[in-house]
Amino acid sequence: ALVGKGRHRHFMAKEIEEQPEVVAHTLTTYLNPSEGTVNLPETGIDFSNISRLTISACGTAYLAGLISKYWFETLARLPVEIDIASELRYRDVPYQKGEAALFVSQSGETADTLAAMRHAAEAGVTVGAVVNVTQSTMAREADAVFPIKAGPEIGVASTKAFTCQLATLACLAIAAGRARGYVTPEREAELCESLLKLPRLMNDVLAHAEEFDRLGTLLQPARDVLYLGRGVSFPMALEGALKLKEISYIHAEGYAAGELKHGPIALVDEHVPVIVIAPRDAHFEKTVSNMHEVMARGGKCLLLATEKGLEAAKTDEPLLGSFAMPDVDPLFSPLIYALPIQLLAYHTAVHKGTDVDQPRNLAKSVTVE
Ligand code: G6P
Repeated sequence: ALVGKGRHRHFMAKEIEEQPEVVAHTLTTYLNPSEGTVNLPETGIDFSNISRLTISACGTAYLAGLISKYWFETLARLPVEIDIASELRYRDVPYQKGEAALFVSQSGETADTLAAMRHAAEAGVTVGAVVNVTQSTMAREADAVFPIKAGPEIGVASTKAFTCQLATLACLAIAAGRARGYVTPEREAELCESLLKLPRLMNDVLAHAEEFDRLGTLLQPARDVLYLGRGVSFPMALEGALKLKEISYIHAEGYAAGELKHGPIALVDEHVPVIVIAPRDAHFEKTVSNMHEVMARGGKCLLLATEKGLEAAKTDEPLLGSFAMPDVDPLFSPLIYALPIQLLAYHTAVHKGTDVDQPRNLAKSVTVE
C-alpha cells in the first residue's frame, strides 16, 4: 500500500488524528486567511441567481450534506432540497432550469450518487461534485468540482473525509451568502476567522483523546445506544449512531432531541446509554431539558458540551459520562463535535475487538446499486 498506518493500530485512528492538518489544508484551499475572504474555483456555481439548491449523497457524505443545508439556509437564505442518492435518483423531482445541485462523495464513484448526479444534469441542472478523489467519474462529469483535499482515506468508516467535506461546504455556503448579498464583507471575515480557528480546537480535543478509551468501556456492553441533538447537532446525532453501528455492531439510533417524546423515549431505561450532543448554541437549554427527561426515566446519559455547558446541565443524578468540549462558533460546531463522536465509536469497537478498518459487510466505496 502507498499509505501506511505509521505508529497507529488502525487507519481509522490515524485518519482521526490527521484531521486538524487536513482540515487546515482544505480551508486554505478555499479561504484567503489574510484577507478573510472565500475564493472559489473559476468554474464554480453561480449561486447569485439560483432558485434552489439540491444536495445529495450516501452514508456519511449525506450527513455532511445535511449539515450544510443549515448553513446554506442561514448564510445564503437559499432553499435547499436534500435527499439520500438512492431515493433522489428515482424521484420525480420537478427540477427547473437555472437550479444547481451538489453531490458529495469521498470516492466520487458511489453508484447511487453518480446516478442522482446524472439525473439532475439531464434535467438541465448545474451540477457540482464535492469529492476527495479528483480523478473520479463524478469529478470528470460534473460542471464544477470542489476537491475536499483530505488525502487518501483507507478506513471504511469515513472520518477525515467527513470533516473536510464540512470545511468545503462551509466555504461554499459563505460564498453563496456573499453572492446573494446576505453575507457582508465584515461577516465574511468573521466567518473565515471562525473556520480558521477550528484546526486548533480539534487539536485541543485530540489532546484528551485517551479519555475516550474509558468512555468506550461504558458503551461496550450496550445493546442499543441513542444519540440526541438539535439543529446542526441533529445530523451529528445521526452520524454518531452511524459510526457506532458501522464499526462496533452495536445498534444505535440518532434522533432529533425534540422528537424524543414521539417514540424513542419508550426505549429509555438504564440499559440504553444516551449520547447527548449539546454545544453552546440557541438549542442548548432545550437539548439539556430533553436529557433531563431521559434521566428522569432512569436513562444514563453521556454529555458532550462545553465546560460551562456541563456546569449548567448539572443535576443530582450523576451522568454516565461527559467530555468537556472547547467553545466554538455554534454554526461550525459539527467540525469539532465530529471528533468525540468518532473517538467514541472507535474505542468502543476496539474494546469489542471488531475489525475497525474493515467492518463486516461494508465496503469503502459502493460502486454497484
Ligand atoms: C460507504 C462507506 C461510507 C461512505 C459511503 C459513501 O457506505 O462505508 O463511509 O460514507 O459509502 O461513500 P462516498 O465515497 O460516496 O462518500
